[in-house]
Amino acid sequence: MLSQLKQFNALVIGSSGSIGQAFVEHLKNMPNCSNVIGLSRQSAPSIDYANPSSIQEAADALSHEGRFHLIIVATGILHTDAWSPEKKLLDLNEDQFMQTMQLNALGPGMCLQSFAPLLDPEFGVMACLSAKVGSIEDNRLGGWYSYRASKAALNMLIKTASIEQKRTRPNNCLLALHPGTVASALSRPFKGDQIGRTPRDATSDMLQVLLNVTSNDTGKFLSYQGEEIPW
Ligand SMILES: NC(=O)c1ccc[n+]([C@@H]2O[C@H](COP(=O)([O-])OP(=O)(O)OC[C@H]3O[C@@H](n4cnc5c(N)ncnc54)[C@H](OP(=O)(O)O)[C@@H]3O)[C@@H](O)[C@H]2O)c1
Repeated sequence: MLSQLKQFNALVIGSSGSIGQAFVEHLKNMPNCSNVIGLSRQSAPSIDYANPSSIQEAADALSHEGRFHLIIVATGILHTDAWSPEKKLLDLNEDQFMQTMQLNALGPGMCLQSFAPLLDPEFGVMACLSAKVGSIEDNRLGGWYSYRASKAALNMLIKTASIEQKRTRPNNCLLALHPGTVASALSRPFKGDQIGRTPRDATSDMLQVLLNVTSNDTGKFLSYQGEEIPW
């Protein structure tokens, strides 16, 4: 587990977001984190899921940085100026569904493809931020069709990649991680500022989980408290 490594290298994809920024700050202050790199649409190299080739180009640019022991994908979308999560089936539409799928499922999936090979084969953890509302079994309230479907699709991509990696990279751990409700631009229209934890508290909790998982945990959907969430 990462907590037992004397030194580790970390990478945060989506470092411009509320949760991504807080991860970078925490990791910078950890004595055993020797290097943390943040990637976003504004960084150099940059990653923009609207330009999928930017993902592999960024991975190629970082390939000389040495192996990473922790990679966190903290990108995501829930609403834009043009649309909000659907309240009813009648609200389902192609633009919102396709954009949400591209940003929440395909983009992080392509990050798994391009960046998981940069994990240290001796031990490395790659976690993508998912959401409990992507759990099919836990879906009690309905609504939020595109967001729920995109996180369920992301979870399937992570689980499937973890099965493949068990054969090729048995010491790596791929995870779907639920941050809980966190005050951020993403959650603000849904009272996230009032009911959510601060990004600092949320990332502190999630780092406790990430520092203590082992390769046996690969393919799990974990909450910020380390509990397994049903698919
Ligand atoms: N906040 C919550 O309550 C909550 C709850 C459950 C799950 N989550 C998940 O946690 C993750 C982070 O959420 P957050 O609250 O930190 O949201 P946020 O502050 O809105 O951050 C979103 C991040 O996604 C990036 N992004 C947006 N469009 C992109 C694109 N086309 N290409 C590449 N990156 C793009 C943003 O980059 P720019 O700065 O360039 O826009 C930003 O770094 C998301 O996956 C979200 O679903 C959050």
